[in-house]
Amino acid sequence: MPGIVIVGAQWGDEGKGKATDLLSDRIDYVVKFNGGNNAGHTVVIGDQKYALHLLPSGILTEGVTPVIGNGVVVDLEVLFDELTALASRGVDVSKLVVSANAHVITHYHRTLDKVTERFLGKRQIGTTGRGIGPAYADKINRVGIRIQDLFDENILRQKVEGALHQKNHLLVKIYNRRAISADEIVEDLLSYTQRLRPLVADTGLLLSEALDAGRTVVFEGGQATMLDVDHGTYPFVTSSNATAGGAATGSGIGPNRLDRIIGIVKAYTTRVGSGPFPTELLDESGEWLRARGFEFGTTTGRPRRTGWYDAPIARYASRINGLTDLVLTKLDVLTGLERIPVCVAYEVDGVRTDEVPVSQSDFHHAVPIYEEFPGWDEDISGARSFDELPANARNYVLAVEAMSGCRISAIGVGPERDAIIARHDLLG
Ligand code: IMP
Repeated sequence: MPGIVIVGAQWGDEGKGKATDLLSDRIDYVVKFNGGNNAGHTVVIGDQKYALHLLPSGILTEGVTPVIGNGVVVDLEVLFDELTALASRGVDVSKLVVSANAHVITHYHRTLDKVTERFLGKRQIGTTGRGIGPAYADKINRVGIRIQDLFDENILRQKVEGALHQKNHLLVKIYNRRAISADEIVEDLLSYTQRLRPLVADTGLLLSEALDAGRTVVFEGGQATMLDVDHGTYPFVTSSNATAGGAATGSGIGPNRLDRIIGIVKAYTTRVGSGPFPTELLDESGEWLRARGFEFGTTTGRPRRTGWYDAPIARYASRINGLTDLVLTKLDVLTGLERIPVCVAYEVDGVRTDEVPVSQSDFHHAVPIYEEFPGWDEDISGARSFDELPANARNYVLAVEAMSGCRISAIGVGPERDAIIARHDLLG
C-alpha cells in the first residue's frame, strides 16, 4: 500500500501533473507505463517552466525515483536530450530507472509514422509523428528492439536486420523512399549503451519490492482513456493502453497492487488529432476556450480542438478505469462565461442515449444534449478551499460531479503547482 494510478479521463492534456503535484511529498516512485515521447506535460515550478515529453513528471520532485516501465516505447535520443537539459538546469536526474523490457523507437519507426500518415490522406490519424504506432506494431509483430537488446551487439544486429528486411521493401517500393541501412541503425543505438547501462533494471521486481516495503508508487498514464487502443475512439487513438489496466501490464506488477485510481478531467474538453468529438466547438466559443486555456500541444504545438464538458465520457472513463477519484482541472479557464453548457447525454438518430455509443459510426454523429449552468466573473485562481469559490463555480463542480460517476477530490484553478483545491484525500 499504496499503488496509485493516474489516468487521463478524456482525450489527453488534462493536466495529470496536477494530481502528481498534490501527492508529491508522499510519493516515492513515479512510473510511466505506456506511450513514449508523444506525451507532453508542462510543469510550472515558481518562475520555471518545464516541458517534458518522455520523462515522467516525477523527475522534477526531489526524492522521487522516476521509472520508465516495460510498456513504454523509448526514443533514446529524446531520453538523453531531456536528461541533459534537466541536468543543466540543476535537476537531479540520477535516480531514473528504465525497464530492460521497454521497446526502443528507432529512426525507421519515425520515418514510417510520417509516411504512413501521408499515405492515409484524408483518413490520417493525426499522430504526433514520433514513431509511436510503428514501434508498438513491431512489438506486437515480435520484431521490436528492446532496451536489453542493446547490450548484445550480435542479437541487436540480427534483430535490426530482421526488422528492416520487410520495411525496406515497403519504404522503397510502396512509399518511394530510400532504404534504411541496418548498420546506421545499429551504430546509432550502440552509441547510447554506455549511458544507458547504469539506468537499466528489472523494474517489475523493483516496484513489487517497493510496494512490499510500504512505499508509495504512482503509475502515471500517458495520453488518456479516449485514446486507449482498446477503449478509445479506434482507430483515432494512440497504440497503447492508456487506461488503468495498462498500469499493471505496462509496469510488471499485479493488478491487486493498485489501490487508488485517479482520473484527471478538464472542466471542458480538448482533443488533438482526428476522430469523433461530440461537444467540439467550431465557432468563436471554441476559439475563446483555446485562447483562454492556452490549448496548444506541448509536443507538437498544434492548436487543440476544444469543446464543452462531456459527462457521458467522464462516466465511461469512471467505469473503464474503475476510478476512485476525479481531479477536475482548469476550472479557472471558464471564468467570465455567462452560461456554461455541459453535455449530459447524446442524441443518436433521434434517440437519447446516456452512454458513449458502442458503435463508432453512432459516436461520429452523436449530437450532444446540453444543460446550462450559470457562470461566474470572480478570479478564482487564488482559491485554496472549496468554500472560497463563488457559489456558481461550486454549483458547476457539484453538478459535474453528480453526472460523472465519481467524486471530485481536487480542483485545479491555475497553472502553478499549488493552484489546487483539495476536497478529499487522494489516498484516503
Ligand atoms: P500517436 O500517439 O503519435 O500515435 O498519435 C495518435 C493520436 O493520439 C493522435 O490523435 C495524437 O494527437 C494523440 N495523442 C498522442 N499523445 C497525446 C497526448 O499526450 N495528448 C493528446 N493527444 C495525444
